[in-house]
Amino acid sequence: MYSGKAVGILGTGICIPEKVLTNRDLEQIVDTSDEWIRTRTGIRERRVVEKGTPTSFLAERAGRNAIQAAGISPGEIDLIICATITPDMLFPATACIVQDKIGAVSAAAFDLEAGCTGFVYALATAAQFVASGVYQKVLVIGAETVSTIVDWEDRNTCVLFGDGAGAVVLGEVQKGYGILGLDLGSKGSGSGLLTIPAGGSACPASESTIRNKLHFIHMEGNEVFKFAVRIIGTSVIRALKASGLTREDIDFLVPHQANIRIVDAALKRLKLPQEKVCINLDRYGNTSAASVPIALHEAIVEEKIGEGDIVVLVAFGAGLTWGSVVLRWGGTE
Ligand code: ACO
Repeated sequence: MYSGKAVGILGTGICIPEKVLTNRDLEQIVDTSDEWIRTRTGIRERRVVEKGTPTSFLAERAGRNAIQAAGISPGEIDLIICATITPDMLFPATACIVQDKIGAVSAAAFDLEAGCTGFVYALATAAQFVASGVYQKVLVIGAETVSTIVDWEDRNTCVLFGDGAGAVVLGEVQKGYGILGLDLGSKGSGSGLLTIPAGGSACPASESTIRNKLHFIHMEGNEVFKFAVRIIGTSVIRALKASGLTREDIDFLVPHQANIRIVDAALKRLKLPQEKVCINLDRYGNTSAASVPIALHEAIVEEKIGEGDIVVLVAFGAGLTWGSVVLRWGGTE
């Protein structure tokens, strides 16, 4: 069980780009079809930023919305963690740019990179600061402009992803509410399955890296798929166990929105009905670290999650990484 202060979500917010890119639009760009994308992934359309829009643009707006929903001011934020695989630059951290943009003058700020699991990792990290009493309010953001790092000539990857941002404010809640337990993990032996090979110290940018398209996402989709199907159920069960709960206790599951077949496999493994899961990948595609907070926010707005509900967030991604967080929703009054 979780020790220290009870830590929960005080408010959520999102920012979704206006521009819609449908499967039909993609048919004009690569050799694909609406039918293939829908049946293999469940995705119908995704949102993409206008050229030149950095991740911090989306992160700032999602962050402001979460702060407003929490009923606090930016000056009360003690720490900002931004989970992203598409930072504005290699450094400084996008969280620092957001800190300035939203006027969170008292906040420390750093980025966290754990692929599509980034938000869940960031939430688990932020919770430790609040549980220990070091900080009172932490803004956790998952924000991505994946459209800037996909090869729009590679049908294996470009149809899967989308842009967006989601954020939550974490703070103390009543005892018995908030985060009850979690499970984080990694398998570095799978690091080559999902990667941007160049632009880091192992392979600095050069004319040849650009020519060979090494600054775009490279993915062994099948292998990632098999890994995801296995790990989601396992991780959720571990996090429930750490919380003193079982799968029968789950009121609502918020999974990473990568592929409907992966979500369906997780539901089967956990013996959960469709009504207990949040799906928005049909509208947004895989928004990487933004997917879980966007889905969570929409589930709250649509009143699918209520006071006292047991909510499980679960994600997997590059690294390979995975993570689950179990929460009892509410306790903020
Ligand atoms: N349109 C048409 N055909 C396509 C497309 C496309 N967009 N993409 C691939 N194909 C073709 C392939 O070329 C292949 O053709 P071939 O049989 O002639 O070689 C065929 O479709 C089947 O390809 P598979 O890879 O076997 O298709 P699969 O059913 O596995 O689906 C997919 C591929 C959707 C990528 C799936 O494997 C998947 O979802 N994997 C998980 C990906 C994921 O979740 N990644 C994100 C992790 S999160 C992060 O950290 C960023």
